[in-house]
Amino acid sequence: MKIAMIGAGYVGLVSGACFADFGHDITCVDLDGEKIAALQRGEIPIFEPGLEALVAKNVGDNRLSFTTGLSSAVAGAEVVFIAVGTPSRRGDGHADLSYVYQAAKEVAAAAEGFTVVVTKSTVPVGTGDRVEKILSKAHPGGDFAVVSNPEFLREGAAISDFKRPDRIVVGTDSERARDVMSEIYRPLYLNNQPLLFTDRRTSELIKYASNAFLATKITFINEIADLCERVGANVQEVARGIGLDNRIGPKFLHAGPGYGGSCFPKDTLALIKTAQDNDAPIRLVETVASVNDQRKRAMGRKIIQACGGDVDGRKIGVLGLTFKPNTDDMRDAPALMIITALEDAGASVCAYDPEGIEQARPDLANVTFCEDAYDCAEDADALVIVTEWDAFRALDFKRLKGLMKAPILVDLRNIYNGEDVARHGFRYIGVGVPPA
Ligand SMILES: NC(=O)c1ccc[n+]([C@@H]2O[C@H](COP(=O)([O-])OP(=O)(O)OC[C@H]3O[C@@H](n4cnc5c(N)ncnc54)[C@H](O)[C@@H]3O)[C@@H](O)[C@H]2O)c1
Repeated sequence: MKIAMIGAGYVGLVSGACFADFGHDITCVDLDGEKIAALQRGEIPIFEPGLEALVAKNVGDNRLSFTTGLSSAVAGAEVVFIAVGTPSRRGDGHADLSYVYQAAKEVAAAAEGFTVVVTKSTVPVGTGDRVEKILSKAHPGGDFAVVSNPEFLREGAAISDFKRPDRIVVGTDSERARDVMSEIYRPLYLNNQPLLFTDRRTSELIKYASNAFLATKITFINEIADLCERVGANVQEVARGIGLDNRIGPKFLHAGPGYGGSCFPKDTLALIKTAQDNDAPIRLVETVASVNDQRKRAMGRKIIQACGGDVDGRKIGVLGLTFKPNTDDMRDAPALMIITALEDAGASVCAYDPEGIEQARPDLANVTFCEDAYDCAEDADALVIVTEWDAFRALDFKRLKGLMKAPILVDLRNIYNGEDVARHGFRYIGVGVPPA
């Protein structure tokens, strides 16, 4: 099947490479000329485990190519996926749909014959209706079916998520489009991955409801962690104790510095706006978003407290900047607000991240970037783990103690056992666990 993928970012590039791997013929289109030039040279503009090899293999087999020329990619394509960004609109938090609508206009002008236009970007309820109108206005008499097919992959595990999803959601009322989408995903449902067909609006809402639910779960355990600290309980054991209940489940119950990333913050906000506009405000999610927002700066205060209440003129080492491990994505990463809070209090911050430094640099002008965790610890008054990269899971505490000015470890991801760390002469402060 000949497919055009509009947008070659985290979602478009992974989806394009995986579809090519299923045997489809994929052209990825992006208006960012540098990104496309890099891809054509065989360079991957983002960090995603396994992606470089997957792209190389499928380019080599002539099933995957890259272009800035949308028209040539769309002409003759049976299916066009729109996977462009839908960031928060400046000022009001609604999803900014301008990239989606612009892409739809360009697709309309270039499409030939029956074309299934699939929105893979996360878009608010009703966007498919608007895309349909744009297509018929820009190309009267064109033969289109507009489908919603939200993406649930997680950065850092994107390829396995795409190839082994919990479910594939497809929103359409068109029989023809349904057949085409079944054909595209055939390799997956042969492996028993469920394909869920709904109407378009329901499909659009499923994506936001999923993300809002997960954000709620994280925020719930974070608030329980705060309570644990007050009453001397252990949030990891609480999480295990509730997670063993099948109705609750163990995932997304890790207390930490608050959720960040390119999806949860903007998607919760967009859902809140949609709900308010439709006179059905979702107060629970409104609270989740506000609690999470405040939490990131509160983590800065927690670090200051661990240093005795004052970090003016002190040096704090930060381990991990990206919003989670195995990605270079810095969008809405908690590290950004935590570091700002520390700098506002007069601290100087040095930081290390295995993959995120280049993306972090423009947002962290006053931070000194280090070569590794030990470089970061040199003369530091405290070391803070913000992102749980594997590289930080087996630190040499003896070596760290020799390098640091004061042996204090603030572990915002609870990757260490406090007593083990304390045995090396450190003061240990985790999240929702007893200090040691
Ligand atoms: N990143 C994730 O983990 C993830 C997961 C699920 C869903 N999503 C959703 O997928 C969508 C894309 O997210 P992303 O993280 O891949 O974004 P991204 O910013 O990494 O990539 C978007 C790309 O689209 C390109 N683009 C914009 N307008 C274009 C146009 N008219 N023609 C061609 N290219 C155009 C941009 O240059 C950019 O390279 C968003 O709606 C997001 O919410 C993201």
